[in-house]
Amino acid sequence: MIDTSQSPAADGTIAQRWESYTPEEHATWDRLLARQVHVLQGRAVDEFHRGVAMLGMDGGGIPHFGRLSERLMAATGWQVLAVPGLVDDALFFEHLANRRFVAGRFIRRPDQLDYLQEPDVFHDVFGHAPLLADPVFADYMQAYGEGGLRALDSGVLHKLARLYWYTVEFGLIREAGGLRLYGAGIVSSFGESNFALDDPSPNRLGFDLVRLMRTRYRIDDYQETYFVIDSFEDLLNQTLKTDFAPLYAELETLPDLETNVVTPEDVVIHRGTQAYARRKRATL
Ligand SMILES: [Fe+2]
Repeated sequence: MIDTSQSPAADGTIAQRWESYTPEEHATWDRLLARQVHVLQGRAVDEFHRGVAMLGMDGGGIPHFGRLSERLMAATGWQVLAVPGLVDDALFFEHLANRRFVAGRFIRRPDQLDYLQEPDVFHDVFGHAPLLADPVFADYMQAYGEGGLRALDSGVLHKLARLYWYTVEFGLIREAGGLRLYGAGIVSSFGESNFALDDPSPNRLGFDLVRLMRTRYRIDDYQETYFVIDSFEDLLNQTLKTDFAPLYAELETLPDLETNVVTPEDVVIHRGTQAYARRKRATL
């Protein structure tokens, strides 16, 4: 849903106009929040829960971006700004590189609690903001933005986008107690919060930067493969240490991998049955 009520500034942002949200819109946020906080107990990574608490996302409706940003700024120097819809790549990377996360200001309708194609304020803020309060993940997001700016004219943005997709949006992490969720696309989705961790259908593979950037992804349904990082430190270090220019050249010589493939080189944490994906394809 594109917000056409305001003209964006040169940097693509608009005012959140928090006062204009209706009681029903705040109630939708509260319902989504209560459901996710419950399902994510024992499922989301500790840093995510800490971020939710630190940012004061404990009910009380859609967060005020200004007040949220004050807390984020104090923790890690990040802020959240409103945008009318998706912004183009250059602006998106420019914002990330300067520790600004851009978020949709609209919230889904009450009949869309379970599925929404475009990111709304619940996905963008509940899904993304808590980890921006973690110093290491905050650095990773900035590094990704800087990498995106360097890659803008390279013709490989679709491959770099896979890194964002399989980490920031749909990443899993290994903790002492087992696998945990951290990707915003998962933690803001009730169905995928269960599926990504518990369902036997998807593959769960060890994180490998080159392998991951060869892998296509699903934008219309649950992922068929999730990649598991060892820690945020490791994710950040691998991203900072990698010289992406030769990596992009190497990727040009390697064929893409389908969403459900397991290769002999993969570190297989769980080999998915793909039963869910097969069922869905059979009903199409
Ligand atoms: Fe997102």
